[in-house]
Amino acid sequence: MKIKSLSNYSASVGVEAYDIDWNCSEEIIELGRLCSSQCIVFVNQNIPVKKINEVMIAWGDPSMALIHEAIISKKVHGRHWREIFLNVGYPNKEIDENIPKYASIISYKKSKKNRPLGFFQNGELDWHSDQCAFDDGQRIIGLQSLSGSENSQTQFLCTHDAYESLSSQMQSMVKELIVKHKWVDNFMAPGLNSLQNVTLRYGMVPMDGMETRLYSETATGLPGMKIPSHSFDGFVGMSRAESDRIMDEIKKATYKEKYIYTQNWQDGQIVFMDQEITLHKRPTNIQDGDQRTMARSIFYVNKIFNNQKSQRLTQVRYKGDFYSVDDFIDLVDKDRKRIFEEWNNKEKLGIGESSHEFKHLKK
Ligand SMILES: [Fe+2]
Repeated sequence: MKIKSLSNYSASVGVEAYDIDWNCSEEIIELGRLCSSQCIVFVNQNIPVKKINEVMIAWGDPSMALIHEAIISKKVHGRHWREIFLNVGYPNKEIDENIPKYASIISYKKSKKNRPLGFFQNGELDWHSDQCAFDDGQRIIGLQSLSGSENSQTQFLCTHDAYESLSSQMQSMVKELIVKHKWVDNFMAPGLNSLQNVTLRYGMVPMDGMETRLYSETATGLPGMKIPSHSFDGFVGMSRAESDRIMDEIKKATYKEKYIYTQNWQDGQIVFMDQEITLHKRPTNIQDGDQRTMARSIFYVNKIFNNQKSQRLTQVRYKGDFYSVDDFIDLVDKDRKRIFEEWNNKEKLGIGESSHEFKHLKK
């Protein structure tokens, strides 16, 4: 494997890897280490999604959003989860039987019943990282362009350089700050329908009041920030005005052209990206009928590294307390049930909202 600089990009992390021997297990591990430390790794090679899954499973366990996983495994079930279950449980098989178990398809394509077959189909996606409200171990996303990707873009921004550019006083503050999260519909992904939106919400911020550290590191110890780009609800123990003032300063230091890598896709390429200190964005507005089809595989790196930043979370921080994963899932389940019952009561009284996420249950 060889590496070279990414074109039109000058930040200190991020490389292109080439001449990779995909059948050499040492090289596969070396690539995993590179993705963990470089945060953005472009590979201009057309590798089957199945092979990418095999490569990444050598790095670590597959990662799925906690609540989506609970829904699919039926740890949580019932009418209040039905719509989301249908949305997260079936897409891949309908679009392509060859898509391996741990990959998701991001596409506008629809099923025969006119149901969207991928995640986040419509519109643009603003800066975000996956599962931003969870203090998790480092996860790597492998994003592949399968077909129809020409003239579309994804942008990547690693926060490492921005963190290093802060004054030492500010860095010390960042290390202490705890972010409060609140989900706002259609902020991260304008243009989603209500079902897509609620599915995304249960992947990103299943409960308002979840908390994460602002400071984070990759499994290799590279420092940066886990920026709550679309779910920021202030810092713990600080007024909203003061929180906003500090967050504005951090955003000003982070969202700079010189830190952004833009991938102009051609079919048959991959970008691997970290999710702890790295954000991504889709500036391309995907419209009805668009044929762009991407595959996304998400894995931890816990088989390569044996430290806290490579291990899957065992606790979730919510409103100042730590919950075990199971207790947190239980909390979200009860909350979802409450939302469902409120909707159901309104329906009975004939005052339900017509575009609500449970509308499918009427049929
Ligand atoms: Fe994403």
